[in-house]
Amino acid sequence: MKQVPSAWQGAILVCGKCSKKLDGGFGKKGRTPLAKLLRKILGVGKGRKATLGVVETRCLGLCPRNAVAMIDGRAPGTWLVVPKDADVAELTARLAAGPAPAARNQT
Ligand code: FES
Repeated sequence: MKQVPSAWQGAILVCGKCSKKLDGGFGKKGRTPLAKLLRKILGVGKGRKATLGVVETRCLGLCPRNAVAMIDGRAPGTWLVVPKDADVAELTARLAAGPAPAARNQT
């Protein structure tokens, strides 16, 4: 099996279908998808050279109303539901700091 190195220190999985249902839902005009906004605020790019992978997935089976389902791959035992009007800057700060200690203990 071929192995490819990556700079990722974790992976954030964001439901792309939730984002599509909200027609973006975030940003100044409320039309930016959460994954794109997270990448921008965290200052991480796309692809394997980013320090943190932010990836849009298919439906995660949670399907919250007016919100986006999200999983921090470093704490997969706790899934997040990000409401449409959530403070993304605060969420980004939490992601940049790493998973919460309580969440770490759950895994
Ligand atoms: S549509 Fe996002 S979890 Fe199902």
